[in-house]
Amino acid sequence: MSIYGDYIKSVIRTVPDWPQPGVNFRDITPVLQNSAAFRKLIDSFVHRYQELNLDAIAAIDARGFIIGAPVAYELGCSFVPVRKKGKLPFKTISETYTLEYGESTVELHSDAFREGDRILVMDDLIATGGTMLAAASLIQRSGGHVVETAAIIDLPELGGAQKIRDAGHGVFAVCT
Ligand code: PRP
Ligand code: ADE
Repeated sequence: MSIYGDYIKSVIRTVPDWPQPGVNFRDITPVLQNSAAFRKLIDSFVHRYQELNLDAIAAIDARGFIIGAPVAYELGCSFVPVRKKGKLPFKTISETYTLEYGESTVELHSDAFREGDRILVMDDLIATGGTMLAAASLIQRSGGHVVETAAIIDLPELGGAQKIRDAGHGVFAVCT
């Protein structure tokens, strides 16, 4: 939990039964629409990572991009998109992972990192952890070192953060 965790949590909107019955969708758009809240959100990550000498932020398509790019800009490190299958134009490596129903694939440009680069992986939300783990695996396969994984929201009842920790990665979430 970060210094602004309770505040950010209070601004996130929960939409029940979307996109399907039984799902409580955690909607970050009210945070983005509120300039003070958006600034506090970005500052939460900048505060945590400013001394960690990161080479790059790898952010996950699509909502991860919204936070990954401003944090990379503030930290003065590079930004690398981890994209859904079929979106990156150059040579890619890919990782397929299981969703609650079915599967999905994320891709990374094969020249995105240099050996030993220090990478922070960012997304908006950790549910089952499959997306974050797939992205972390791509980064390791391309020679990068995953310094930590970070999200705005962790849903602990789904066990994703624990799964990521069990795989050997640190997890930071602004709120749960
Ligand atoms: C959502 C969310 C995370 C992922 C978390 O993305 O933005 O990327 O699900 O779920 P997991 O921990 O169970 O893997 P989604 O696939 O809905 O894509 P979007 O960002 O394009 O909406
Ligand atoms: N991605 C997976 N589960 C989600 C949820 N409950 N709210 C927002 N995004 C999600």
